[in-house]
Amino acid sequence: MSGNQTFTIIKPVAVKNNYIGPILKMINEAGYTIKALKITHLTKNKAMEFYNVHAGKPFFEDLTSFMSSGHIVAAILEKENAVDDFRKLIGATDPAKAEEGTIRKIYAESMSHNAVHGSDSDENAVIESDFFFSKMERY
Ligand code: CMP
Repeated sequence: MSGNQTFTIIKPVAVKNNYIGPILKMINEAGYTIKALKITHLTKNKAMEFYNVHAGKPFFEDLTSFMSSGHIVAAILEKENAVDDFRKLIGATDPAKAEEGTIRKIYAESMSHNAVHGSDSDENAVIESDFFFSKMERY
């Protein structure tokens, strides 16, 4: 069982396609309270810092170029078992493998344009939340 907070990003293509509202609605309906929320933009360097764990992987350049290509929505979400349940809600990284009804199945276009990011552990949820939000920007 994971802790009670996770972190998400609605990625540039989903923002561009006007999916912020529908995706946040699915998140709310799954029982999450939004504890922090902002529309922002990552520079290429900031995207490389955020995804540092993937540095050196073949998709790193594409991933960080894409993530710095447009506006994103960053959010901290709260609910019991937040990390594990959110990963179920968003579905597999590759939308072709995501279960029906998941956010990625509905809104993602491809593995790299996969609509949303979700933290993979409690530890990373804290690190990623702190990357985007100060104490004053959350409740
Ligand atoms: P995300 O949850 O944001 O975490 C890392 C991202 O890297 C992932 O979603 C995908 O968008 C991307 N990614 C992971 N594996 C691959 C891959 N094999 N090819 C392309 N992109 C990938």
